[in-house]
Amino acid sequence: MSGVAVIGAGYVGLTTATCLAHLGHTVICADIDEKKVDALNKGEVPIHETRLPELLRDGLSQQTLKFVVGARQAVTDSEFVFLCLPTPQSDDGRADISAISQVIEEIREIIPAGSTIVNKSTTPVGTNAAIQSLVRRGDVAVVSNPEFLREGVAVTDFLQPDRIVIGSTDPEAAQKVSGLYNAVDAPIITVDPLSAETIKYATNSFLATKVSFVNALAAVCEAVGADIESVIRGLGADQRIGSRFLQPGPGWGGSCFPKDMQALVRMADDAGYQFDLLRAVIEANEQQFARVVSKVERLVGDKLGGAKISLLGLTFKAHTDDLRNSPALEVAKLLSSEGARLIAYDPMVESNSGLPTEIELAQNIEQALTGSDAVVILTEWPEFTRANWGALRDFMNAPRVLDARNALDRRAMLDLGFQYDDLGRI
Ligand SMILES: NC(=O)c1ccc[n+]([C@@H]2O[C@H](COP(=O)([O-])OP(=O)(O)OC[C@H]3O[C@@H](n4cnc5c(N)ncnc54)[C@H](O)[C@@H]3O)[C@@H](O)[C@H]2O)c1
Repeated sequence: MSGVAVIGAGYVGLTTATCLAHLGHTVICADIDEKKVDALNKGEVPIHETRLPELLRDGLSQQTLKFVVGARQAVTDSEFVFLCLPTPQSDDGRADISAISQVIEEIREIIPAGSTIVNKSTTPVGTNAAIQSLVRRGDVAVVSNPEFLREGVAVTDFLQPDRIVIGSTDPEAAQKVSGLYNAVDAPIITVDPLSAETIKYATNSFLATKVSFVNALAAVCEAVGADIESVIRGLGADQRIGSRFLQPGPGWGGSCFPKDMQALVRMADDAGYQFDLLRAVIEANEQQFARVVSKVERLVGDKLGGAKISLLGLTFKAHTDDLRNSPALEVAKLLSSEGARLIAYDPMVESNSGLPTEIELAQNIEQALTGSDAVVILTEWPEFTRANWGALRDFMNAPRVLDARNALDRRAMLDLGFQYDDLGRI
């Protein structure tokens, strides 16, 4: 028995499998998507992640990494089985862990004695114990090892994390899982499984709260005449606070924050604690989408019915191709419900699949801006900040920009004759 199985080849699973192979382990990664498995075995990476294609091809050519269809194909000779499976939000807000239960059912009888299941999916507090009871094997350990990578810089985050969290009731299993990360220079925080699972939700919720806080602060700055960038400089310099995640924007989103916030609220409810603070943060985020829309309305100076609004950026942030729960799409939905006609450009979005039908997709910035009544910057792609806005202005019906990422140079845009608004800058 040797090696590592990784179940799920999405953002987390593919990064985990590829990086563990890079760290010297022999890895078999399984997915149910046959096309994805075929492409990966040919060295084609289906997602946009810096360094991932190179490391994947290294692993394939050194035969330390391969991809198979179905979990059962991966686990028969594995000492470790990493679960990197989706845990989407169910209708009641709780995390749906059915993919995990299903995989455990598939593999429970064939995983070798002495192996360790390592859960990297974000799962409700108590899932580690639930997996242990689903496995029904005294000779298999279950360890929680939540993942904190950020999409776009997933490889760097995996290989140089701020910390590695390991949750286990079995010190020997925890030690073995720590050993997989020997070549990674990061503190290892070993705790009980309930705490490990809580750390993951606490981290995402705290970050989302920080973003909502700075969004609200930008609104305060507008109301009192202060400048959010100056405020952030002073606020972020306080080491108790730090300057990261203090950037105003159209609201938080992505595949994790919204579902993890809801899941934590539900988990707390179920355990008898009303997490009203988090409820307020979720509510503030909804309001932020609406705030962006009302700023567009003000800029256009009229109702949005019939106005042609250009959207720059659709992914949930720059440097990823992930559209899941993107704030840009939330804003688009509201603009469309106000009657706006929408045309959008995003450097990472090449087809309409995954986009609401109301959005027409342009192939470049110029096409998106042609005949436009206002443009809204929704993700902070460098292509937008580097663009020649003097020349772009001439494509527009009216030169109006709402910079919902505070990405452009405010003074320069005003000097170019744009009607320009952003979030809390003066
Ligand atoms: N994406 C992130 O930035 C991130 C960061 C940290 C933690 N997480 C958590 O990690 C988990 C995975 O997230 P993700 O973004 O990688 O999801 P994803 O949707 O990108 O990938 C999940 C993969 O699992 C595969 N899959 C589904 N059922 C399967 C099965 N029965 N057998 C084998 N493969 C199966 C899917 O085909 C897909 O390729 C989630 O719990 C998520 O909350 C995500």
